[in-house]
Amino acid sequence: MSEPVNVAIIYYSSTGNVHALATGAAEGARKAGADVRMRRVAELAPDHVVAGKAEWAEHVDSTSDIPEASHDDLTWADAVLLGTPTRFGAMASQLKQFIDTTGPIWEQGLLAGKVYSGFTSTYTNHGGQESTLLSLYNVVYHWGGVIVPPGYTDPVQYELGNPYGTSHISGFGPPTEVHLNTVRHQAARATEIAQALKQARG
Ligand SMILES: Cc1cc2nc3c(=O)[nH]c(=O)nc-3n(C[C@H](O)[C@H](O)[C@H](O)COP(=O)(O)O)c2cc1C
Repeated sequence: MSEPVNVAIIYYSSTGNVHALATGAAEGARKAGADVRMRRVAELAPDHVVAGKAEWAEHVDSTSDIPEASHDDLTWADAVLLGTPTRFGAMASQLKQFIDTTGPIWEQGLLAGKVYSGFTSTYTNHGGQESTLLSLYNVVYHWGGVIVPPGYTDPVQYELGNPYGTSHISGFGPPTEVHLNTVRHQAARATEIAQALKQARG
């Protein structure tokens, strides 16, 4: 029997929407046979800013038991799913700050050859979903990773499908079962492709 692949779900969320998608991604990867680490990146906003928005403070509080992402999570992983809310059409600075600490492991080639896939949440339907996902994928080019987008590889992609990566619009409410099924499919597909690569490499 083949050894399981390691999947890291690394995300940032202020008010819970991307967190819900990350939970769905973890479920999809586990169901596809992966060992999963779900990790949030560190909150960088000053305490008084977080405290000024009730949903933000509540989310930080309710997710404090989720471990913070580390370089070891990246090097351990065969596939990495990156999740972020959009911030003016690009990834959140909290996730970018984590990414910007990876120079030493990038330099050793430890980020290359892995599978990467991204998911996001915006407030509006034309609020920058693809540009946010592409801001994640730009990083992957530099890391030498294998981008595995969902495309239209499952019927669920025709319901809410964004071929660039699972996308959710919080202005219409929190993620629904359809969003969760979409991100579960995306994570399962990334897991299966990482598994195939791992087997082929021996
Ligand atoms: C500084 C800032 C910039 C944002 N920029 C955008 C944007 O460009 N387009 C958009 O649709 N939503 C934007 N949003 C809204 C969030 O991306 C959106 O509410 C998202 O669903 C939040 O995800 P979360 O609940 O996981 O934090 C912005 C929010 C903040 C605080």
